[in-house]
Order: sequence, then structure tokens, then C-alpha cells
Amino acid sequence: MNGAGPGALGPLADAPPLPADAPRLLADATDALARTAVRYRACQRFTRHYVASKLRRDPIHHAVLAMAADHPFGGVADIGCGRGQVGIALLEAGGAVAVTGLDWAGRSLDDARRAGAGLAFTAQAQDLATRPAVPDCDTALLIDVLYLLRQDQAVRLLGLAAAAARRRLVVRTLDVDLGLRSKFHLAMEHLGRPFWPHAGAVVDPAPLPVLAAVMEAAGFTVTREPCWQGTPFANVLMTARKTAA
Ligand SMILES: C[S@@+](CC[C@H](N)C(=O)[O-])C[C@H]1O[C@@H](n2cnc3c(N)ncnc32)[C@H](O)[C@@H]1O
Repeated sequence: MNGAGPGALGPLADAPPLPADAPRLLADATDALARTAVRYRACQRFTRHYVASKLRRDPIHHAVLAMAADHPFGGVADIGCGRGQVGIALLEAGGAVAVTGLDWAGRSLDDARRAGAGLAFTAQAQDLATRPAVPDCDTALLIDVLYLLRQDQAVRLLGLAAAAARRRLVVRTLDVDLGLRSKFHLAMEHLGRPFWPHAGAVVDPAPLPVLAAVMEAAGFTVTREPCWQGTPFANVLMTARKTAA
């Protein structure tokens, strides 16, 4: 854990050097994201535009596809999958063999199922706060969902994900320790709550060291890096890999 002891995260890591085949990987990922956007064309107008814009602007998609190009994700549980575009992009890119999306938002799951038709994508309705259950998987994704649960619920869900994932956990969450960036992001989340009532019942981000300690206790080694490029938000990506026994 950055050599700093359990749960004690050091400073954010610098970006690693680009691999030699970075231009090809970027082109492949961009093509997969374009194909993903096309899959949402049969969905309602709002979803179509929302997903297309999210795929274009949110750095999480390229970050996840780059990780999977390096080490494919295998069977994936996408916890709090929303409209499912992250998992569907992974399937389009060949970075996952199957994806199960979990969320409580029935209409988002309907959109995800429609977009994922013909791919190894399934979706299950589930309240992750009160009745969480994570299927066995190689990789568990928790993208922008933990901070929308109470901290105790987030810790319980992450513990279940860590027990279910054989190889890797990928978590993006709001880092509360980034000064003005965190304050701005928190304010935007609170302001947005009335407009996005189903996105989450609360805004209650657990500090990153608390989340890291949960994953470490389950035998994972955790690293983290910024994942807010081009936005004013305080999103940080935590990657946890199973430590060799
Ligand atoms: C900000 S969205 C992120 C969606 C998706 N991971 C993505 O990256 O596009 C948060 C998601 O968490 C889901 N969510 C929040 N609280 C939940 C709960 N208690 N049970 C199930 N899903 C929940 C919302 O429905 C929403 O789809």
C-alpha cells in the first residue's frame, strides 16, 4: 500500500509512462466507446444523449479500457452500474468476458439491457445499501457509487465486493482530502441531489484510507490515481489487485 502501512495512503501517484503501443490502444478504445454509444441509440432520447456525452467526457472510460487492455478483467460485477456503459464498453473492447450489472434504478437497468443485447451482459435490480449481494467475479467495479451510500453501508458493500472478486477491484470515488476540489465536488453533489433523486440517497464519502483498509484486509494491494482529467471534480481511481500468497 504505497509502502505507508495499512490504510495510510501516501500522496497521489504520478501518471505511469505511456506504453510503446499507446496510440493503437487509444484508437482501439476510442472505437469501442463509439460502438458503445451506438448501442444506446435505441434507448430513450435522454439516455442516448446522456450516455454519448458521458462516454466522450468522463475519463473513467479510457482509464478502465486501458487497464483491461493491460490485464483483461475476465468476469465482471459492475456494482452500481447505472445505464451500464462502462461494462458494455469493456465487452465491446474485448476487455471482459461477461458483465453483471447491479443497480436499484429499474429504468437505467432497462436501458443497459437494451444496449447490451447480444453481448454477455446481464443486469439485476438490487438495493446496495440495505440488501447487498455481490456475485463471484474476477473483477468488481464500483464506479461513483460508494459515496452515494452511508459510510457504514459503503464499507459493508466494499467488503462484500472484496470477498467476491478473485483478482481485482476498481473503485472510483470522491476524495474528501483534496481541498477546494473536494469542497466544490461535494457542493455539486449536494446541489444535484434533488434533480437526481435515484442516483443515491445520501452524499457521504468515506475517506480513501478507510476504503483502502477494507481492501487490504481482504488481501489486495491498493494504488490510486487522479481520475478527474478535464473536470473540476475530486474523482480518484483506486485499483486493488489480489496480493500473491
Ligand atoms: C453516479 S451513478 C454511477 C453509475 C455508473 N457506475 C457509471 O459510472 O456511469 C450512481 C449509481 O449508483 C446507483 N445507486 C445509488 N444508490 C444505490 C443503492 N442504494 N442501491 C443500488 N444502486 C444505487 C444509482 O442508481 C446510480 O446508477
